[in-house]
Amino acid sequence: MGTAARHPLTIDDTGEVVTRLCRFRAGRVRGRDLGEAASRTRRRRVPVREAGAKIRTPPRRARGRACEDAPVQRALAENLVLDDDVDRVDVDAVHDFLSNHAYWAEGRPHDVVRRLIGHATRIVGLYDGPRQVGFARAFTDGTSVVYLADVYVLPAYRGRGLGSELVREMIEHGPLRHLCWILHTRDAHPLYRRFGFGEPTERVMERAPAPR
Ligand SMILES: CC(C)(COP(=O)(O)OP(=O)(O)OC[C@H]1O[C@@H](n2cnc3c(N)ncnc32)[C@H](O)[C@@H]1OP(=O)(O)O)[C@@H](O)C(=O)NCCC(=O)NCCS
Repeated sequence: MGTAARHPLTIDDTGEVVTRLCRFRAGRVRGRDLGEAASRTRRRRVPVREAGAKIRTPPRRARGRACEDAPVQRALAENLVLDDDVDRVDVDAVHDFLSNHAYWAEGRPHDVVRRLIGHATRIVGLYDGPRQVGFARAFTDGTSVVYLADVYVLPAYRGRGLGSELVREMIEHGPLRHLCWILHTRDAHPLYRRFGFGEPTERVMERAPAPR
């Protein structure tokens, strides 16, 4: 089975990466309602019939190929598994880590975490049986740039190469691998350098968030 068939993303006729939105159609992440994000996603993809009007289908560019909802699972040592199935994400566990233990997401509300997962192009979870012990999230414009965010492994599982495998699965094994990856980190530079990340050139600029 080729990469395009195994992954929740595919390349459309124009060469663009297209999210296989069918994964979100149920509108739920592990039993939790994804709410607005999923509904909006559904609305974009499903033909809309107005009174007396013909069914309008999305333009060819937006449709991509057939929707194949086949999550990627990769078994690691000691019964640990990497899985990119968004339905498997334990939003409570991810929220707990991010809002209480991640310097970049301290205090992030539960519904924001849930929404970010719902909007992600791809998530990769690290699981020890049913337990969520690691996570990474990516989102993209589908053509040029993809952003890696919210990478973590629980403290008890660190230092065994699991963070590296999580990042590898996200950036090297999916159809997003041909895009330009961007991330922010305060101190995990050694981890990301392994995967080809380097210091930005003079061509990169950043605008800090405006105060609320
Ligand atoms: C970063 C993190 C995911 C790495 O997970 P891990 O399972 O320990 O990763 P690995 O075992 O594959 O180790 C990756 C390498 O990166 C290095 N590294 C990881 N985190 C680092 C940090 N904060 N500072 C410096 N080096 C770090 C490790 O030393 C290791 O290098 P080594 O093998 O030469 O010792 C984990 O430490 C974590 O969750 N940290 C808290 C959240 C966080 O900071 N996430 C990154 C946000 S950008």
